[in-house]
Amino acid sequence: MGAGPDPAARIGRVFAPGLALRASEIRIVNARENQLLTRTGPDTPMGQLLRRYWIPALFSSQLPEPDCAPVRVKLMGEELVAIRATDGSVGVLQERCPHRRASLYFGRNEEQGLRCVYHGWKFAVDGTCLETPGEPNENFKTKIRLGSYPAHEQGGIVWTYMGPSELQPEKPQLEWSLVPESHRFVSKRIQESNWFQALEGGYDYIHVGMLHRGSMTENMTAAMPKFKFTAPVLQEIIETDYGLLFGRRQEPEPGQAYWTLSQLVMPFHKVLPRQAADQTRGAHAWVPIDDQHCMLWSIDYHAERPLRDDEVEDAHNGEGIHAATIPGTDRAVLNKDNDYGIDRAVQKRGDSFTGIPGFGTQDSAIQESQGTICDRTEEHLCSSDKQIIALRRYFLKLLKAGDAGVTPPGLEAWSHCVKTENVTVAADLSLREVAARQ
Ligand code: FES
Ligand SMILES: [Fe+2]
Repeated sequence: MGAGPDPAARIGRVFAPGLALRASEIRIVNARENQLLTRTGPDTPMGQLLRRYWIPALFSSQLPEPDCAPVRVKLMGEELVAIRATDGSVGVLQERCPHRRASLYFGRNEEQGLRCVYHGWKFAVDGTCLETPGEPNENFKTKIRLGSYPAHEQGGIVWTYMGPSELQPEKPQLEWSLVPESHRFVSKRIQESNWFQALEGGYDYIHVGMLHRGSMTENMTAAMPKFKFTAPVLQEIIETDYGLLFGRRQEPEPGQAYWTLSQLVMPFHKVLPRQAADQTRGAHAWVPIDDQHCMLWSIDYHAERPLRDDEVEDAHNGEGIHAATIPGTDRAVLNKDNDYGIDRAVQKRGDSFTGIPGFGTQDSAIQESQGTICDRTEEHLCSSDKQIIALRRYFLKLLKAGDAGVTPPGLEAWSHCVKTENVTVAADLSLREVAARQ
């Protein structure tokens, strides 16, 4: 990891002019733009952009020991298997055997390679073909290769890089992936929607006071400011060297501004703000499985201390940003087949605005309800959708820049370690000044 510029220089240097949105730009995405934002296969512009980054693929614990069973992983429409070889190294390989396309998920993971159980061809973690029994020509195997991607274990997660090998960036350095295991809780679950609408949901600030009304846990509210959030909200978005910084400003008292800050670390990582130093921080990653599903990774962590038992228990039980999953699967217990456990009596009483239990489940329920791939041509946006519009504009701009050969942001590891606190400051400070102080 390079050292990067010193923080003060970084603020001055990297903060490009903000994405100033005018009312006239609050417009509907057209069908072509909707395709660009949502399609992630290898031949799509977004798929190629996302493939420039290291991607969380599975938990290291899903490959608990050398030569354990292969694990199926699907990323951006590509069907893969992950294995841990005899020497402990991890490989992420195409699932289909290059002989006659049998699934290597059923393969035997043995002696430093994965052997297809159909006719016994064997492959190393880097995709090298080691044996082709049944083929007397010894040279034949040198002409065969199984598609494979580099893997890297960090933060209890196997990351993989699916882009061009000559463009492989530095290893990811998100803060949550660097803290000791005891300081972190990570969950993942499948969301049955396109990744981009899940990402948008993560930056849709206005829904919090509606969708999640009545569902904040004690840990979430403990350090919230005690004023009412009725003041008008000013939204500012700034481009940075890692992605975007979102600021929302309210004036609880004359002369005072309360800033809520969150960040997009490219390409799909959200770093949530916290209210107070002893609180845990939160983070998400929305990783496309295919264009109809994404893997929602959710993280609670604290850089300086282990998580308390009650924090781990809450997260484990699906509280806060997490949601409980059916044991042995990534499918949420509360899912669209059971209407996410909605209780109409609770909804009617108003104890919970939705009647759906759990912050995280409420988000998934509503984002899945927008349609598997939301048809943005049918939307009617309003001024509170400014962050959503900024996200779309930002990604469309990056896709265009990619066409022109411009290197996307957030590839340098030093740029990943960002974090923010929500703060009350003097009303005349701009988002740039608030960010510079942090
Ligand atoms: S299909 Fe795999 S060895 Fe034949
Ligand atoms: Fe939410």
